[in-house]
Amino acid sequence: MSLKADNVLGPVGEVLTEAEKNRGILIHAFQQIQEEHNYLPGEELAKLSKDLGISMSDVYSTATFYKQFYFTPRGKKIVRVCTGTACHVRGADKVLDKIKDEFEIDEGETTPDLEMTLETVGCIGCCGLAPVATVNENIVGEIDMKKLDSVVDKIKKDEDISSLDDDDE
Ligand code: FES
Repeated sequence: MSLKADNVLGPVGEVLTEAEKNRGILIHAFQQIQEEHNYLPGEELAKLSKDLGISMSDVYSTATFYKQFYFTPRGKKIVRVCTGTACHVRGADKVLDKIKDEFEIDEGETTPDLEMTLETVGCIGCCGLAPVATVNENIVGEIDMKKLDSVVDKIKKDEDISSLDDDDE
């Protein structure tokens, strides 16, 4: 393994332990795989293990250490409802329940068509806009039921959500 790792890392590899080299290479590979598939398919991890000469148990233990990597398919849109204190006080539960009902999935689940994954998240730092949710990289704040209907509608129609606040004004 070290031969391949050293080829990739160059001089930096000389000061790293074998485990550190493997970890660095694996994380980079996981990021690329996840970018392509939205999660880490088992067959890709097996291929990685074989190509790099790193045992499957090391591959898995590294991947499971980081919360950012996923082992089941995820949706094209990742919807995260903030359930931090400010959002909770201002109705995050209603937002979450409505999305669950509309897409017939629970928290942590993905729709069967792989269009959407629903998650909750702690405070995302814009409490002044509570209740807040994110749809991929877009933040949707001050969610009332009207805005929530628009969010759900845009997700279902696979429309751009970034213009949502402009639409409402
Ligand atoms: S509690 Fe939701 S953004 Fe802070």
